[in-house]
Amino acid sequence: MNSLFRRKHYTENTDSGQLNRVLGTWDIVFFGIAAIIGAGSFSSLGEAIFRGGPGVIVLYLICGFACAFTALCYAEFASRIPTAGSAYTYAYASFGELIAWIIGWALIMEYSFGNIYVAFSWSDYFTSFMERIGIHIPDYLTCSYTEAKKAFFNHSNNTELINAWQSAPVIGNLKIIVDIPALVINGLITWLCYQGIKESKNFNNFFVLLKLFVILLVIAVAVGYVNTGNWFPVNAEGTSSSFMPNGFAGVMSAVSGVFFAYIGFDAISVLSEETKNPQKDLPKGMLISLGLCTVIYIILTLTLTGVVDYRKFDGIGDPLAFIFQKSNLNLPWMEFIVSLIAIVAITTVLLVFQMGQPRIWMAMSRDGLLPKKFQQVHSKNKVPSFATVVTGIVVGVPILFTDKTFILDFTSIGTIFAFVLVCGGVLMLPPKEKIKGRFHLPYINGKLFFPLLFVVGLIVFYVLQPDFFHNLPDIKDPKEGEFRLAIIIYLIANLVLSLLAFIKNLSLIPLIGLSSCLYLLTGMSHENWFWFGLWFAIGLVIYFIYGYRNSKLNISSHGSAGTH
Ligand code: ALA
Repeated sequence: MNSLFRRKHYTENTDSGQLNRVLGTWDIVFFGIAAIIGAGSFSSLGEAIFRGGPGVIVLYLICGFACAFTALCYAEFASRIPTAGSAYTYAYASFGELIAWIIGWALIMEYSFGNIYVAFSWSDYFTSFMERIGIHIPDYLTCSYTEAKKAFFNHSNNTELINAWQSAPVIGNLKIIVDIPALVINGLITWLCYQGIKESKNFNNFFVLLKLFVILLVIAVAVGYVNTGNWFPVNAEGTSSSFMPNGFAGVMSAVSGVFFAYIGFDAISVLSEETKNPQKDLPKGMLISLGLCTVIYIILTLTLTGVVDYRKFDGIGDPLAFIFQKSNLNLPWMEFIVSLIAIVAITTVLLVFQMGQPRIWMAMSRDGLLPKKFQQVHSKNKVPSFATVVTGIVVGVPILFTDKTFILDFTSIGTIFAFVLVCGGVLMLPPKEKIKGRFHLPYINGKLFFPLLFVVGLIVFYVLQPDFFHNLPDIKDPKEGEFRLAIIIYLIANLVLSLLAFIKNLSLIPLIGLSSCLYLLTGMSHENWFWFGLWFAIGLVIYFIYGYRNSKLNISSHGSAGTH
């Protein structure tokens, strides 16, 4: 049993030195923005606004809050263990091998599967831009098979998807429906990552500037048209107006899309072996990029919901261009610029994630949990070459048979789960000696603070949602029942955390990070949990067949070095 939780002891020089150290703080900030702002803001923001109304801004704040505390925990780990591998490496040091493997496995959901969603969104913008300049790509070559099939059999209003299903050529019994732009962009990005970090960096910095430019332009142009009445839309009966027209449940139903917009700040922690001074640059870069993006999201959401009624965002996959359409602000030149630059913005996310995945696999392979091939570094380009190509395949193949909604939920649940373990991991770290110039997570004793916060939170919850406590027997809607069950489990988890904080004087910052990430998990449906559980089970089987036996710690434990 103990060997499942054997821990790796990292030193300053563990596993480092093979990659090029060329990145400074601002390169890290740029990589952060490159990873964070993408499909989430350019695409899934539309659906999030439709579900939550202007009040979805509260969810952006909750997610920003949870991510900020998680980022502090990442920063603490990054300053202690400056080697590639991100949360995986951190879990290996704090929880031991089995949990590290589970995180590594969950991170595939964030990086590779996340990129599938981003590639689909990229394809949406690319296709509609082509349409605007008069080039029509057949619908069956621009969407996924399952999406078209679902749309057809569910009698969706989406004419492009229906048309794709009806007009697709058939071979045998199979309709040929393939998202070609998504496949092509994945191939190009894989090729670029293979060329090396320096080339990727230059490409990245230039496009991030463009991305920031277009978002600021959208805000600057649209802000003059804001009608504050749109922030409090009147209901269909004309009897009341509300900032959260679909209630708080409506806001929470947008959690996957909103959280997805924040994913990415953690991705830069995999670049520690390519950062000049990882103990200082990484934490700083992570926090600066996250802070900037949070502010941008809040202003952007306020602007969008201020210029167009939230109900109009139903099914809108390109909300930033949409507000300038004829039926809205009627500024065709803005519509053109935004849809062109959105293609670029989304590309940078693909790049960062596609660079992150191979570096995590490289770290896992060095530890013996994956075959040696995954740590092979290209002699000239200095990138993990085999792992980079495998990433391209892992992203490319599911593009053929999955769809956006499924992938969005799957990515978000896996990533939140990894965040939970990172925050929990920091709670288990021993105190460290302070070294000047390095990041140190401030220790605030959570003994009394955390239980107090829990009680205050409970009272506020009672005041805002008294029905939750009074109407338990009346639950008819299964979704409502599911949400209530999740909240009850969440409350029990917080009770346990409060007790632990009291007994063990746990540190407040990671406790808040942990609790807020657990809260985000309450927005997940039982289907999400089912698929996550299945993925988890497959991971465990692979671990016991391969990783457990080939782990370096297994081999070295015969001589007893390396574990503790
Ligand atoms: N946050 C990234 C995006 O929105 C994943 O595309």
